[in-house]
Amino acid sequence: MKWKDEHEAYMDEWDEEGMTPSSFHLDSGISYENYLEELHKREAGHGKWLPCTNYFLVDDTERVVGMIDIRHDLNEYLHQFGGHIGYGVRPSERRKGYATRMLAEALKVTDTLRIKSVLVTCNEENIGSAKTIQHNGGKEDVSMIEEDGTVVRRFWIDRENKSS
Ligand SMILES: CC(C)(COP(=O)(O)OP(=O)(O)OC[C@H]1O[C@@H](n2cnc3c(N)ncnc32)[C@H](O)[C@@H]1OP(=O)(O)O)[C@@H](O)C(=O)NCCC(=O)NCCS
Repeated sequence: MKWKDEHEAYMDEWDEEGMTPSSFHLDSGISYENYLEELHKREAGHGKWLPCTNYFLVDDTERVVGMIDIRHDLNEYLHQFGGHIGYGVRPSERRKGYATRMLAEALKVTDTLRIKSVLVTCNEENIGSAKTIQHNGGKEDVSMIEEDGTVVRRFWIDRENKSS
């Protein structure tokens, strides 16, 4: 509950269609308490959702600057399109290295989950995300095409043979 106001302010600033990661989307009709309950269920895994863990990236002033969703496994959809990790950075805080740092931190979490090869994906036109992945050691695999024609680039980050 501590982050309610910050989360809402972040959501107000969000300028894309649909929240990335979708786990942080706040529906206007539901209370924050209910949102947290739904997130808790989603994190435990139910219905179409595999277990996942969600984090805020917070700066020294306790401003939420980024959000990240770490899925503990892959299903067919995630293997083709979604990957293990989804993230977003607050529009006013972009191009300051936050996504690169946040993904690096998330890889420590996937290490604790013993995920040896981490799949991270991005749409073809998302140069900022592709660079974020490549800065974290992503090696490109074949791309996939969604039903609406969107080309999704797919990168594997090898954590078995990581240098640090
Ligand atoms: C993609 C996104 C997460 C990048 O976040 P960020 O904090 O700006 O990324 P970083 O500052 O770590 O930048 C990483 C690299 O990408 C580059 N970059 C970032 N945004 C860029 C853009 N719009 N165009 C070109 N390059 C960009 C940066 O310059 C940096 O490269 P460099 O180190 O060679 O200079 C952010 O733009 C965002 O939240 N977008 C909307 C949600 C989204 O697309 N999420 C990813 C889903 S796959």
